[in-house]
Amino acid sequence: MVAFSSNPFVLQASQLIEQRTGLAASAQFRANLEPILNEIAQGNLARLVQTLHDTPETAPAWQKLLQTLAIGETYFFRHQVYFQLLKNYILPDLIPQRRRATPPRLNVWSAGCATGEEPYSIAITLHEYLPDIPHWSLQIIGTDINLHALQAAQKAIYRRWAFRHTSAEFQSRYFDPVPGGLQLKPAIRRMVSFRQGNLSAAPPLLPFDIIFCCNVLIYFEEQAARQVETMLYEALTPGGWLVLGQAEMLRFQRDRWTTHIFPDAVAYQKPVTPGETTRNHTKPLPSLSATVPASPIPAGYTDAVRALRRKDYDEADRILSGILEQNPTYAAAHVLVGSLFANRQALPEAHMHLDTALRLDPLLADAHYLRGLLHLEMGKTEAARESLKAALYCQRGHTLAAMILGHLLTKTGENARARRVWEEALHALTDLAPDALVSDISDITARAATAFISSQLKTMGG
Ligand SMILES: C[S@@+](CC[C@H](N)C(=O)[O-])C[C@H]1O[C@@H](n2cnc3c(N)ncnc32)[C@H](O)[C@@H]1O
Repeated sequence: MVAFSSNPFVLQASQLIEQRTGLAASAQFRANLEPILNEIAQGNLARLVQTLHDTPETAPAWQKLLQTLAIGETYFFRHQVYFQLLKNYILPDLIPQRRRATPPRLNVWSAGCATGEEPYSIAITLHEYLPDIPHWSLQIIGTDINLHALQAAQKAIYRRWAFRHTSAEFQSRYFDPVPGGLQLKPAIRRMVSFRQGNLSAAPPLLPFDIIFCCNVLIYFEEQAARQVETMLYEALTPGGWLVLGQAEMLRFQRDRWTTHIFPDAVAYQKPVTPGETTRNHTKPLPSLSATVPASPIPAGYTDAVRALRRKDYDEADRILSGILEQNPTYAAAHVLVGSLFANRQALPEAHMHLDTALRLDPLLADAHYLRGLLHLEMGKTEAARESLKAALYCQRGHTLAAMILGHLLTKTGENARARRVWEEALHALTDLAPDALVSDISDITARAATAFISSQLKTMGG
């Protein structure tokens, strides 16, 4: 565990959180965990730890804590590619077989459903997909550890933010305006049931044909993620499908799954006969590749860069969501989203987008640089150095990477190497106009960077 606090009660609380929920509290929140716990404990950390120890995760103290620790970011049709996948591959694979039962039957689980946008998006997809839906016995279950989120899911009243990936036409087809936002129409609401459930404890009882467990396991520490991955496998019927979040992958025992690789997504299928897996099956997703733009820089990208520079993160998020909806493979936009999440201290989400960016374009220097910064934030200096070196490999003299790597090198007494890195950066800067900004993810001008690096070299005596 990362040494993030010397307070024994904070250490005990973080261990309890990891054991009970799987959330990697200490690694994710680091120094922020102590103030969060103090606020909930109202001056008595020892009592809080005892209460957490003695009560189930549904108890008020746990719920208060989870409302802060469990990131509930979600929206309708998040990761559109997965809903295309559901419509174009998963349902065509499952529905003909499941239709043979009397009545036809399909069970879907949205594990870690937060405020319900994901299971409701699944319900809408099924509603549109199945012309004979009234004849089906459909179970769509959303579970989450956070009771407050589930209460919101049950009300199904959403604000503008939840619709960032949907059209006005979609909103008026499926929602009614009510005080406080838009409420999902009863016909879709009735398709989904919600239950409190801790993924680190028991799964819901049904065997499932499809499980969405998106953007949950990225917050889990390793051992807990391993257990949940096994549990998800066991909760699926043979031939059932598992969908994780974009850029998430199974971390353990991948061989027992059939892995389906699509241009922008990976999905896993439990083989009908254990051991009979087909691996690295590559399939085209025609409806999505049609949306990949001809133009290398999508409209709005520069506006997103400007919004980020003036720290208008909501606006940047709005523009970038729109860009990625139209151009899910535009790697530079993933880097901007990564920097947005990094600015909001949402490090796992930031990593996820940088991973996606680098999968799409492994030579994207800004992505390596930002990864380096995230590693530094987490105290992983060696990994940070590797990422910064990768940035410099991809873009000779990358200003931002050189500034930080040079500093790290001087700290370990590697002055000659620091000097080389800085001199190369200075050389690269001569190609830029003095007022030009050195990168899309920074507001440092070439003039300022030159002055900074020159002063560092001078201090070194060069
Ligand atoms: C980022 S949200 C993901 C929402 C949705 N799946 C999506 O991708 O849009 C993560 C959710 O996982 C839930 N969660 C975290 N730990 C959990 C656990 N041990 N059991 C069940 N849910 C958990 C959180 O409460 C949160 O609502």
